[in-house]
Amino acid sequence: MSELLLEARGLVKRFRSQSLLRGSHETRALDGVDLQIRVGEVLAVIGESGSGKTTLGKVLLRLTPATAGEIRFGGNDLRALRGKALRLKRREFQMVFQNQRANLHPKMTVRQMLDESLRLHRPKLDAEGRAEHIGGLLERVGLSAKAEQRPESLSGGERRRVGLARILATQPKLIVADEPTSGLDAAIKLQIIDLLRRLKESSMTYMLISHDLGLVRRIADRVVVMLKGRIIEEIPAERLGDPRHHPYTARLMRAAHLSEDHASQGPSVIEVGVGGEQRHGGCVYAADCPVARERGLLTRCRQERPEPVALGPGHWVACFASADPIEEEP
Ligand SMILES: Nc1ncnc2c1ncn2[C@@H]1O[C@H](COP(=O)(O)OP(=O)(O)OP(=O)(O)O)[C@@H](O)[C@H]1O
Ligand code: SF4
Ligand SMILES: [Mg+2]
Repeated sequence: MSELLLEARGLVKRFRSQSLLRGSHETRALDGVDLQIRVGEVLAVIGESGSGKTTLGKVLLRLTPATAGEIRFGGNDLRALRGKALRLKRREFQMVFQNQRANLHPKMTVRQMLDESLRLHRPKLDAEGRAEHIGGLLERVGLSAKAEQRPESLSGGERRRVGLARILATQPKLIVADEPTSGLDAAIKLQIIDLLRRLKESSMTYMLISHDLGLVRRIADRVVVMLKGRIIEEIPAERLGDPRHHPYTARLMRAAHLSEDHASQGPSVIEVGVGGEQRHGGCVYAADCPVARERGLLTRCRQERPEPVALGPGHWVACFASADPIEEEP
């Protein structure tokens, strides 16, 4: 098994907001998250809207401060870093934001933009070294033939790839890609999927946040499922669809499978509408879980937080009913 790149323990992120209707209100966007990322792996994070995926990515990379918990990156305590030490460390990771428009200079060619990024992030490289690097970057993102073009003559997918090439120019040790294919039409999406696959083949370590289960199955090594700020299941990607999922994941899988029958663009994580207030003591799925009711576990599920239970190599679920295969009523 490869070495650990990042390890988080007990991450909590609370947001306090004020609204006319609800007054002062607290959201626990992360509610005690433990996570590990190993060098060279692709870790996918799935879960419905508002489950805390983007917050997790931002907190891990210290783009937003955690309320509590520990983050170790390459052996360093990331939360303890300040000032220059933090700035230097930050160069080692990058986040591709959800719905980000590649912010490209309209007057510069692709080659000039990459040259600019390299000047900034690799100041010790001379012109020859940069030219060599640019060739490699263009090849990695499949844009060798477009080096002398300006953004206006590039497709949406090509622009996103230039944006990714600029990120790769900084030689990050970890990339968090937040919904990198969202908002793209099918053809452009395929280009980005192809690029993500190439990055994986070149042993890039990244966290892939995605609603697209087809993409996750194809690209990720490992998958974590988030619900209301907690990770409720971790599973090797090739075992998605296992008969022993967390009841919430089982529901997601069934919803995605149904949509696969009806949609042409592949299955997605479907909003399954988990209601109820966030509970800090019990299981976050207690208010909606049919398994808890069927098995007479509801009181316990409302009061106690379920600990992870191993179901197989690299597979665990946080559920009191996990000893037996969990099957929900259709
Ligand atoms: N800056 C903020 N201030 C207040 N609440 C926030 C803030 N950012 C996120 N939240 C809340 O934290 C929770 C998690 O949000 P987050 O953006 O991490 O979800 P997500 O899983 O990425 O959702 P999506 O799939 O829609 O992108 C949500 O309830 C959201 O409203
Ligand atoms: S712990 Fe209880 S409420 Fe939570 S998923 Fe398992 S059975 Fe359902
Ligand atoms: Mg998000």
